[in-house]
Order: sequence, then structure tokens, then C-alpha cells
Amino acid sequence: TSIDFAHFQWSAPSNIALVKYWGKKDNQVPANPSVSFTLENCKTITSIAFAKKEDQNDFVFDLLFEGKPKEDFKPKIQKFLERIDVYCPYLKEYHLTIDTKNTFPHSSGIASSASGMAALAMNIMSLEKELSPSISEDYFYQKASFLARLGSGSACRSIKGKVVVWGNHAEITNSSDLFGVEFSEVHANFKAYQDTILLVDKGEKQVSSTVGHDLMHNHTYAERRFEQAHDHLLKIKAALKEGNISEFMKIVESEALTLHAMMMTSMPYFILMKPNTLEIINAIWKYRNQNQIPVCFTLDAGANVHVLYPENVKEKILEFIKNELVGYCQNGQYICDQIGTGSKSI
Ligand code: PMV
Repeated sequence: TSIDFAHFQWSAPSNIALVKYWGKKDNQVPANPSVSFTLENCKTITSIAFAKKEDQNDFVFDLLFEGKPKEDFKPKIQKFLERIDVYCPYLKEYHLTIDTKNTFPHSSGIASSASGMAALAMNIMSLEKELSPSISEDYFYQKASFLARLGSGSACRSIKGKVVVWGNHAEITNSSDLFGVEFSEVHANFKAYQDTILLVDKGEKQVSSTVGHDLMHNHTYAERRFEQAHDHLLKIKAALKEGNISEFMKIVESEALTLHAMMMTSMPYFILMKPNTLEIINAIWKYRNQNQIPVCFTLDAGANVHVLYPENVKEKILEFIKNELVGYCQNGQYICDQIGTGSKSI
């Protein structure tokens, strides 16, 4: 099929890792498998207009962020397009006009790379589907995840909901280093699981994830860490299936602290938590012990804290956050999110 013009729009959510991806091999292959909750409210919305051009020599694209030209994101997208060229040879036939925005405030310290790359991949797959209408739905989503991974590793977990595993694990059938797969066996205890993101430090990331993953090469503890992630993945898989929230919380918090421990013990070394990160963690532990309410935290490669809890304690936890934790947030800011269902065509 030949198509002169096509226009699509997709939203893709962010995700929060429960077992962390930290360290990679060549070609965006993870050093260990990871698993995440797909989020619902924190998303990127991207449209691409594809217009057939004369030549097929280079990638040609315009980039708009919130409707205005944005030059500084262009190199990242150029690199992404070059990486996926062999898998999407049709892209060079088009002039792309990419228009993108996020539902969360920029410079909130929430990475938009996962949702951003996933949204781009979905639009590209929509064009592929127009060009090759016979491709199956499974192929469509699997290849979208495959392409998103080449943009940003964790982006491959943002195509589908609600719980997504990425990375080969001998004991998890269908798991792959090349794309994310949905975990189907999730207990009702995790239905509408909540993630309230406390914005402790909204500044630019101190360590980019590219630099971060590199720190795991020749890292003293790398091999043990990769083994631990494999072990944690099996344990959290069982906890998710059985609805075992206390086991889930143990693994999630251990993973968050291990991620930061890896950064503290690499060369060069970094401390990405802030004093308020620790204040929040201690307050969560105290509250949990005193009230016997299942609430735990996780962290990304930064100072912000994700507070995770079941929906049935939402009111109590939001009250706790407002009374005791908001004071540790920059300008009192936090974002309420929950487990979500993945990318959507708009
Ligand atoms: O996808 P990247 O290369 O930005 O790496 C993400 C790394 C963490 O967010 C820290 C962990 C994860 O698994 O998402």
C-alpha cells in the first residue's frame, strides 16, 4: 500500500519499576529482568503527521513541544530514529511532524523518556499498520514495545498495563530481553493500586540513566545485584499472584534501596537522595508500624518518593500525606496516580 499522508495521536503512560532495571548490555538489552506498574495519569500525548517526501535519504522531522518548536529534544529523537531505521525502513519516506506534551509538569523530576518513547513508538506502529494492514494485534503491540526499548529501555514497559515484565528470566515463560510482556496473574488486592509521587527535588537529574547504567560495568557488586533481581522478580511474581501485600512491600523497598546502594558504591559514586527523601521514608515506616496500614515507598534514580498503597486505604494515606509528608515536598507538590492500562489511541 502507498500512503501519502497519515496522522495519528497516542497517549502513553509513565511506569514505576518494582524490581529495577539498572545496568545494560549492548543494543539496549537489560543486565537483569525488571517489572513495573504502568501508571494512569502521568502520560505523554504525542501526535505524528506523516507526509510523503521526494527522497528517502535522511530522516526529516519537525518537533513541537506543547505546540511550540523544541530544538533541544531533537538529537534524542534523531538517535532513536537511526536506531530503529532497520526495523522501520519506511520512515525515511516521510516528513514527520511530531507534536508532544506531558500531563505532568515538566522539570517535576518525573522522567518523560519512558512515556515519550512509548508514545512515539505507538504512532510509528500506526503508520506501519496502515502500510501493512494484515499485521496482527499481538505483533503491533510487541513491536511497539521493541521499538520503545530502543529509545529508552524502561519505555518498553509503558506500552501495556498493568504489570509488565521486561527481561529474560529462565523461570518466567514468554519473558524477553527485547520487549515487555504483561503479567496476567495479578490478585485483586492490587486492583487500582495507588502511587502518590512526592516531589522532593524537581531539579535536573544529577545522573542521566545512560551514565547510571554504565556505572554497573565493572561494578564491585554487579553480579550479585543481577542475581538478586532475578530472585526478587520470582518472589514478587508470587506475591502479586497471591495478593501478598506484605511480601510485595518488602521486595519493593529493598529494590529501591538497592538501586541507590548501587549508585553509592559505584565509581564515581553518587547520592541521589535528599535529606527529605530520608525524612519521608522514616515517616512512612513509623506510620506503617503504628497503624498497621500497608503503605510502602519506592524510588527512581532521584530524590522523589513514590508512595504505594492499596485503594482501600486511600483516604487514610492521603490524610497522612497531607498532614505529615507534604512539608518535605518542594512547594508542597505531589501527584496522585495509580496502576493503569497502557497506551491509548486518541
Ligand atoms: O529506561 P532508562 O534507561 O531511563 O532507565 C530507567 C532506570 C530506572 O528508572 C531507575 C529503573 C527502571 O527500571 O525503570
